[in-house]
Amino acid sequence: MFKINDNYLKLPGSYLFSTIGRKVSAYSAAHPDKKIIRLGIGDVTQPLAPAIIEAMHSAVDEMGHAETFHGYAPDLGYAFLREAIAENDYKARGCGISADEIFISDGAKCDSGNIQEIFSLDNKIAVCDPVYPVYVDSNVMAGRTGTYDKATETWSDVIYMPCTAENGFAPQLPKETPDLIYLCFPNNPTGAAITRVQLQEWVDYANKVGAVIIYDAAYEAYISEEDVPHSIYECEGAAACAIELRSFSKNAGFTGVRLGFTVVPKELKCGGVALHDLWARRHGTKYNGAPYIVQRAGEAVYSEAGKAQLKEQVAYYMKNAGYIYHGLKEAGFTVSGGVNAPYIWLKTPSGMTSWEFFDYLLENANVVGTPGSGFGPSGEGYFRLTAFGSYENTVEAVDRIKALNR
Ligand code: MLT
Repeated sequence: MFKINDNYLKLPGSYLFSTIGRKVSAYSAAHPDKKIIRLGIGDVTQPLAPAIIEAMHSAVDEMGHAETFHGYAPDLGYAFLREAIAENDYKARGCGISADEIFISDGAKCDSGNIQEIFSLDNKIAVCDPVYPVYVDSNVMAGRTGTYDKATETWSDVIYMPCTAENGFAPQLPKETPDLIYLCFPNNPTGAAITRVQLQEWVDYANKVGAVIIYDAAYEAYISEEDVPHSIYECEGAAACAIELRSFSKNAGFTGVRLGFTVVPKELKCGGVALHDLWARRHGTKYNGAPYIVQRAGEAVYSEAGKAQLKEQVAYYMKNAGYIYHGLKEAGFTVSGGVNAPYIWLKTPSGMTSWEFFDYLLENANVVGTPGSGFGPSGEGYFRLTAFGSYENTVEAVDRIKALNR
């Protein structure tokens, strides 16, 4: 008789964005006349930049001819893309990451869920609270998190690092020593960023205690402040203790195209074993690569035209972020984020819980956001709005919220 992986049964509820999707569909079915504005999931709305479309068209044409047709991609991804990444995302920022330390994938969500596979089940993870749910849920599925306490909404074997208004939404070094530390900056969901000096403290700490930092830099394109690092490898010693996850979803609008990459420096070792070799083995065994057409599209992100067009696209979303931030502040909300990230984090008004405010906004303003408590217990009493909507919808949503009689 077969048995299931009953770690799955320990997962409380469904995936956050699936729950929201269901609630919104139910509301929409009951009120077909209402125009709902979705500022919940961080999904982009602007079309792909012309340089990217052009690269995709020409790659499609190549696939139509025997001489230029491409089958399976190389295990780590095409050299043309890995070299463009090494040059633009790393060398240009003074980071010594080489193309053969870069693994192309179909996105950072998969990589952030899969990366835990190369670590022992005995490892103790530390996560920010609130946190992108994939880090914790994927460790639950693997059986690394102990038991769930419904009352506190925490796992017995997870170290939580509260990110609150008091600490500027930046985690403190944990009292208990972790083996794996998940950090995401600029942060999802709070929109907070940390400085290079602050990140260096984490790198020094990880090297001291022998921990690995899994650094999610999916939102680096939104950084506007000089002292905020774009990559963890801007910190000294990071190549010996950090894996970096990157995405093309937010900087280039690839949420529906799918492309990302993970950097595993060769210097990062456990005893004599390089984590690079383990991830390469996993990649080779379980993955057949992002499509050629998509990798060519990724290459176009680094072309001169691509860079200029995407700078404009990021500015477009950041204009939305500014509109939400200032609009809600004017309306009396306590808001943060939105300066180095496309997320605005606001305190729910009148002591409402995060989900109460979700329902209130959906019903009274027909605006969808994300309840902070869905990201962890310290997110209770907070709410996240994304800047990835169209400008017109963003303005309308903020104006509707401002008009609510609170
Ligand atoms: C979010 O809304 O938190 C993100 O869009 C989710 C993701 O990138 O997978």
